[in-house]
Amino acid sequence: SPGGRRCGGRASADLGRTSLPSRMFSRNDFSIWSILRKCIGMELSKITMPVVFNEPLSFLQRLTDYMEHTYLIHKASSLADPVEGMQCVAAFAVSAVASQWERTGKPFNPLLGETYELVRDDLGFRLISEQVSHHPPISAFHAEGLNNDFIFHGSIYPKLKFWGKSVEAEPKGTITLELLEHNEAYTWTNPTCCVHNIIVGKLWIEQCGNVEITNHKTGDKCVLNFKPCGLFGKELHKVEGYIQDKSKKKLRALYGKWTECLYSVDPATFDAYKKNDKKNTEEKKNSKQVSASEESDEMPMPDSESVFVIPRSVLLWRIAPRPPNSAQMYNFTSFAMVLNEVDKEMESVIPKTDCKLRPDIRPLEEKQRAARKNRSKSEEDWKTRWFHQGPNPYSGAQDWLYSGSYWDRNYYNLPDIY
Ligand SMILES: *[C@@H]1O[C@H](CO)[C@@H](O)[C@H](O)[C@H]1NC(C)=O
Ligand SMILES: *[C@@H]1O[C@H](CO)[C@@H](O)[C@H](O)[C@H]1NC(C)=O
Repeated sequence: SPGGRRCGGRASADLGRTSLPSRMFSRNDFSIWSILRKCIGMELSKITMPVVFNEPLSFLQRLTDYMEHTYLIHKASSLADPVEGMQCVAAFAVSAVASQWERTGKPFNPLLGETYELVRDDLGFRLISEQVSHHPPISAFHAEGLNNDFIFHGSIYPKLKFWGKSVEAEPKGTITLELLEHNEAYTWTNPTCCVHNIIVGKLWIEQCGNVEITNHKTGDKCVLNFKPCGLFGKELHKVEGYIQDKSKKKLRALYGKWTECLYSVDPATFDAYKKNDKKNTEEKKNSKQVSASEESDEMPMPDSESVFVIPRSVLLWRIAPRPPNSAQMYNFTSFAMVLNEVDKEMESVIPKTDCKLRPDIRPLEEKQRAARKNRSKSEEDWKTRWFHQGPNPYSGAQDWLYSGSYWDRNYYNLPDIY
């Protein structure tokens, strides 16, 4: 209902909070090693970390960072040509992980039944998410364009792997974008996020692996490779790939950095440039010395900070600069700064399960543990509220789908989780 949209759940009229209520604590006094030493071989999501390693957001809110560049979805929906549409969708998929750059704080684990809503009239969307499973932890989300141009939904199960010096978070789960005016659906899976130097050295984040975006109407695919940085750091943050049609004919080449920008260019031009670049790298490699460090995997310094722009490329997306106080505020983007904002009007309409109402984490996790003990006899009796399990209508993969009626704001029998 349009009335529901007006309601106070949006990040309020004074949207544009540019700062958090307080600065963060220093992590220097905490040895992460002393915690992890006990836990090598354990699944990391079961370990309780000191709050000082957290950022003051629930994982449900962290997911919402995907929506920062919603303008790319509106743009994709406004374009008649499906290949141009795919370019914008690819830019959206890349931009969705850009907010993770230098965000080494761990988000709070959502409690079972926890929800989060965000309405951004200015960006033209509203979103609802719910923690639908505790073991394994699964978060489902459903966003819709306020002028009915798109639906964006998915379920994420971050599978953590501990590799001694690093932690890898593989975001299992399908992401679906439906462009309603074109009757088009795109699906993909996010890249794997790797956090280096969890024990000694400076923490830094890498995104790696392939992301395959499928347009289920045309059969076009965009296959993007998030490159591991490599020994010389030449590939640091780089993303490259092609848009190809059903017969695997390359239509466009895309390249850039997930921390910075994404360009599109003719594939033949791109391949010629790559061939030339490879020759230069091999010459350089022979003249460089490699020093392997036992202690930590330092983030290599890239050869040049910005992306070399191949002539006749088209810019698809560029990151917005972070606000000046970002370094004291968990390296938040301007978008992330408002995620936890709650005013009186909003408080009166949102359900009491919304993570904006979460008190501090420690007593919380204790309550959750006690509540789970109470529930454990009948854990299967737990009913998710706003999502239900089912196959993704496009990819067929197991997914969580929105059940509707959240925005009616008729909240009864909510679980007492805080
Ligand atoms: C923020 O970024 C700086 C610069 O890379 C980094 O040194 C710092 O550890 C980051 N802070 C957090 C909380 O991730
Ligand atoms: C657990 O169950 C007992 C008895 O039904 C109840 O008094 C208590 O409040 C419950 N604790 C939690 C945390 O739900």
